Amino acid sequence: MEANERIIVALDFDDRESTFSLVDKLGDLAVRYKIGYRLLTSVGFDALDEIVGMGKWVFCDVKLHDIPATVAGSVKNLAARRVGSISLHASGGSAMLKAAVQAIHDLAHRPQLWGVTVLTSLDDYAVQNELLVNASAQDFAVHLARIARFCGCDGVIASGNEIERIKESCGEDFAVVVPGVRPSWAEQHDQKRIITPKEAIRRGADFIVVGRAITEADDPVSAFLKIADEMF
Ligand code: C5P
Repeated sequence: MEANERIIVALDFDDRESTFSLVDKLGDLAVRYKIGYRLLTSVGFDALDEIVGMGKWVFCDVKLHDIPATVAGSVKNLAARRVGSISLHASGGSAMLKAAVQAIHDLAHRPQLWGVTVLTSLDDYAVQNELLVNASAQDFAVHLARIARFCGCDGVIASGNEIERIKESCGEDFAVVVPGVRPSWAEQHDQKRIITPKEAIRRGADFIVVGRAITEADDPVSAFLKIADEMF
């Protein structure tokens, strides 16, 4: 896969104009976009449909977490919008994960299902004292990745620190998608545990999710190109 195809640009915008101005500027360079709650709650699903209609591959980051029937129906509805991948919480349980996998298994255009393991906003303290899980956040993340794999999901979203452990436990063909990526020259923003594009790929990431380092750059095209160049 070419370097540009490994970059998923997070479209965290609140209006149409900024969204499509970036997509237009990046042109053929960017093939993958992430659309999540921010754009869906402002511009709505029309933006997603339009970007899919432009031939882009869209990761629909809705982090589904509900009873199996509701998640299965939602996954099916999103698949009909021809998205490339959908996120769902691995902590929703095996019945929920299997229902999601089952809901789309016979579709000709089957989106990938990516599990969210432990949100990076949760630390060991929160995992142990709030969720009452007797493990470190990282061990819990690897455990949830194994469950996602067992239930038939295609990969997980993970921090840069867990890539190798997840690949070891779930196999090389299980996708690991890494957000919180910052090239050395970009601002850190509110991300705490960051990793450079080069390091993420070196450690085995299949895709990196990059938002502000591209979307807020003075020149998003050269920011994208610099990140792609840096990767290998
Ligand atoms: O702007 P930035 O590159 O930090 O954006 C990263 C994107 O990845 C955002 O859309 C954010 O919601 C998402 N994300 C994250 N960390 C996670 C999971 C998702 O930054 N652990």
